Amino acid sequence: MRKVWISRLTAQKMIEVQNLTKQYGNFTAVNGITFEAQAGEIVGLLGPNGAGKTTTMRMLTGFMPPTSGTAKIAGFDIFDDSMEVRKRVGYLPERVPIYPDMTVRGYVDFWARLRGVKNSKSQVTQVLERVHLLDRQKTLVRNLSKGMRQRLGLAQALVHDPEVIILDEPTIGIDPQQVIEVRDSVRELGKKHTILFSTHILSEAEQVCDRVVIINKGQIIAEGTPANLRQKLQRGNSLYVQIVGANLAQATDMLSGVAGFESLTAQGEGYILRTRNSNDVRGQIAERVVQSGYRLVELRPVAMTLEDIFLDLVGRE
Ligand SMILES: Nc1ncnc2c1ncn2[C@@H]1O[C@H](COP(=O)(O)OP(=O)(O)OP(=O)(O)O)[C@@H](O)[C@H]1O
Ligand SMILES: [Mg+2]
Repeated sequence: MRKVWISRLTAQKMIEVQNLTKQYGNFTAVNGITFEAQAGEIVGLLGPNGAGKTTTMRMLTGFMPPTSGTAKIAGFDIFDDSMEVRKRVGYLPERVPIYPDMTVRGYVDFWARLRGVKNSKSQVTQVLERVHLLDRQKTLVRNLSKGMRQRLGLAQALVHDPEVIILDEPTIGIDPQQVIEVRDSVRELGKKHTILFSTHILSEAEQVCDRVVIINKGQIIAEGTPANLRQKLQRGNSLYVQIVGANLAQATDMLSGVAGFESLTAQGEGYILRTRNSNDVRGQIAERVVQSGYRLVELRPVAMTLEDIFLDLVGRE
């Protein structure tokens, strides 16, 4: 279904970011990033704390001017056409501004009017239904759970039916059940909208997004579908090796000469050997163990998870 919809729009560029840079004083928070999102794509902006995700999103939503570089939303420049951009973007900020004394419906209605939504009554009803808050429409915002507040924030971002939706870590600080609900909502929204979604959780990016842009220290360090990121980034090999009677020092002596040797670490009854390239070194390992007079009882590749790859990229801090 998704594919049909995308082809109908003939892969229109909905978000185009070019060399976008933001400096706070002389600190560069976002440093010349370039990426795109096509109509109907869910793009994940994945990075650790302080990577520059929020700063990027604030620029894209017209909240803050870039220091240099450009970005377009649905063809409109975020700086020169910021009014057009605001009409077309829904933004769930990192911290949703809360008006505790408003009702759920009042809050969404307030945003609808602010944005000049026609037929606001039916539009508000529709959007509340969409985020599963219609049965709470009379509840005061102060009495909502965190997850419900997050969905209310989503309703605010959706009420003017924007083409592009920008969500800044929508699953942070809510319980696991509600995390699942928010992720499902995002995937559902992705059928009709273009979505930029930030997270510092790799598995979330993998589950929710069509494409992931990895950002660290203000720069893009990798980009691709979850599957091709894994392929691209996994430069080396990981093998589990079990050798009878060899301690770590002895095993290191035996195996440090293997082509591309990077490290040997203990795991369970054996060791994990990592190499820098993806040549098959199993023959070399077997040969070395036997030549040293030891017995090899297990030798198998270990799949690196995308999480390992990500941590290698951004540094295990
Ligand atoms: N208003 C500001 N003034 C000065 N520095 C700032 C400001 N806002 C953000 N920064 C700095 O810019 C860098 C990027 O921050 P940003 O909030 O964009 O990161 P983030 O990826 O959203 O992080 P997190 O995952 O913690 O939300 C950080 O080092 C942060 O301290
Ligand atoms: Mg942030």
